[in-house]
Amino acid sequence: MPPALASNRVEGLNRTAVLVGLMGAGKSTVGRRLADRLGVQFVDSDSEIEIAANMTIPDIFERFDEQYFRDGERRVITRLLLEDPCILATGGGTFLPSENRKIIGKRGVSVWIKADLETLWERVKDKTSRPLLNVVDPKDALSNLLNARYPLYSAADITVHSAAGDSHEIVVQAIVEALLKYGHLSTDSVGKDEL
Ligand code: S3P
Repeated sequence: MPPALASNRVEGLNRTAVLVGLMGAGKSTVGRRLADRLGVQFVDSDSEIEIAANMTIPDIFERFDEQYFRDGERRVITRLLLEDPCILATGGGTFLPSENRKIIGKRGVSVWIKADLETLWERVKDKTSRPLLNVVDPKDALSNLLNARYPLYSAADITVHSAAGDSHEIVVQAIVEALLKYGHLSTDSVGKDEL
């Protein structure tokens, strides 16, 4: 790895990096670390929806329905993408409606954190906060979501892989390198000298 890329000397995010992918991909954890690394704000669209609705996501699904949640999701990402470039972690369903993909494509750069079923399952199996996995066979549900959604996630501008044993730092590094490659970040003068 070139020294400048291993250091903190990357800056100038010129578009919001929108992290997409299935539940358990690590969008929030990776997103927080990536935002720290780049010195920009981290925003989680699920948390923003909960704040706007003053309710948890399981409550929104229970008291209203999934469509109500999806409408909130669209409003939240539309608003956030009008703000300064930041790292935006989205919920697993955000990148699926074509309208959302269009908004993200116009103002952001989409980054799919791709992981296989076993890796995702290991990360989500003990959590109860995901209504779509609150079913008799949650692993089967996750597998069905993977099959249905991966073709759509593959439309993201950037794809990075998150394997079972990978630290989140490896994924952060892969995203930084891809953002540099596609011109969404720059290295500062010290970094350039070192390259
Ligand atoms: C969903 C994923 C969740 C949350 C909601 C729906 C989905 O977010 O938005 O439960 O459709 O995959 P995470 O991907 O952050 O778990």
